[in-house]
Amino acid sequence: MKPPIQADGAPMDDPLFADPPPPDASRLKKLILDIGDGVRERWSRQSPNLALEPIERRAVVERFLATILAQRHSPDTRITPEMAAFHHVMADLRERLTIDQFFSTFSLLYWSVREELKSHVMASHELLWLFQAISQAIDSVLWESAKEWSLERELTNQLKDELTGLYRIASAIITDPELDEVLATVVEEISTLLGADFCALLQPVEENEAFLEIKSLKNQGGEIEKSLLFSLEAGGIVAQAYKSGETQRAIVSAVSENEPTLEGLGFKHLIAAPLKVQNRILGVACAANRDEKRRFGESHAYLLSTICSQAAASIWNAQLFESNARISLDLVLTLAQALDARDSYTHNHSTNVAGIAKKLATEMKLPQEDIDEIFVSGLLHDIGKIGIADAVLHKPGALNRAERQLMMQHPAKGAQIIQPVRGLRAVIPGIRHHHERWDGSGYPDRLAGEDIPLPARILGLADAFDVMCHHRVYRRARTKEEIAEDLHQSSGKQFDPTVV
Ligand SMILES: [Fe+2]
Repeated sequence: MKPPIQADGAPMDDPLFADPPPPDASRLKKLILDIGDGVRERWSRQSPNLALEPIERRAVVERFLATILAQRHSPDTRITPEMAAFHHVMADLRERLTIDQFFSTFSLLYWSVREELKSHVMASHELLWLFQAISQAIDSVLWESAKEWSLERELTNQLKDELTGLYRIASAIITDPELDEVLATVVEEISTLLGADFCALLQPVEENEAFLEIKSLKNQGGEIEKSLLFSLEAGGIVAQAYKSGETQRAIVSAVSENEPTLEGLGFKHLIAAPLKVQNRILGVACAANRDEKRRFGESHAYLLSTICSQAAASIWNAQLFESNARISLDLVLTLAQALDARDSYTHNHSTNVAGIAKKLATEMKLPQEDIDEIFVSGLLHDIGKIGIADAVLHKPGALNRAERQLMMQHPAKGAQIIQPVRGLRAVIPGIRHHHERWDGSGYPDRLAGEDIPLPARILGLADAFDVMCHHRVYRRARTKEEIAEDLHQSSGKQFDPTVV
């Protein structure tokens, strides 16, 4: 389950269960052309002496980008005609250009893409996808060039590291909906890319917005309490970065006294930049060094602000995902409680069944995602009873044939009720089949054995267990021993023997 984002930052219709859409070819093409134009323009401004005719330069950029596009659209990594043409142009260029010229060509391409990423506060799916493609292509070209021409290793490696780090952060937006993991990735990459001893992501304290607290932290060579609070009133560089909301430039400070919270912890140099998405300031990223000689400069400030634009989008996305998931679960819980309240004899039956089913699924060591789905299925398993009249639902004695048939419709009705809710489709099999029996004598579809979906088999057992535990109108509650014996006797008949 991945939360897709749109270019304007709004969540898609159904952020809980939809996969990110494939890149839109026409938007992608436009993006590539825009970037190509940017590269061409900068090229003519910055490298007027480049020994290539303008038309040839254009050809290089266009073929380069076309290659990437073709490569990414082909399902495997075979060499496409565009790629072959690209290699041909590359070989030609290597013969005719100096190392500097060759290197500057690709640096320009890279910087253009980086600029593009920076200017899109909420990066679009297409842009990240393109960034990934270009990063990989440039990466391999640089690596090859370094081998053949002994390009300055350090410079190449630095660029390579930067690309890899930015790419990891960018891809976290698409692949990592877990907020904690996104925060950890961002902190890790910032401290690696900036070569910093300390890096922290700070966000406002929920109940007191005058302070920022540490949400994620990496610290080498010293002890730092994660409970440190950064005051927004004290005027340190963290507060300055937060209040300025200026994403274009990180704030660099040469003395640790410029951040009261870190005072006395042995840091000599600090740098901080806000995490900003559209007009929302989510927090601040700050880094620090203990070594007097390892000061932060222009390039670090530029790099940190680029990372922060991406990181903020990533964090916002993860926060959105978590709050959506929470709202959905709250709604389902409310629904389950409403259902339970209608039938006072069932003693919170839905919530009990959900809890028992979750325990069973956890003991069976199912993946967390399945356990969560089984829990929600448990909450909603009897939702089909909503349509059953009180006279039948609350009838004190045994049901007659017609009433029994009405009652037996509730699993199928429940599935029908949930069907239109796209975000809950995964729980439908559990709801529809929770009254099937292992020997095939259940309802509504008389499924048997492993044809019954596993969540439904687990729910069936949890359902029976909870019913036996409580005194019902037509039956007294049983002792634990009686229940255990009943369940074991029904193993292989009513219940899946592996679940019992
Ligand atoms: Fe049921």
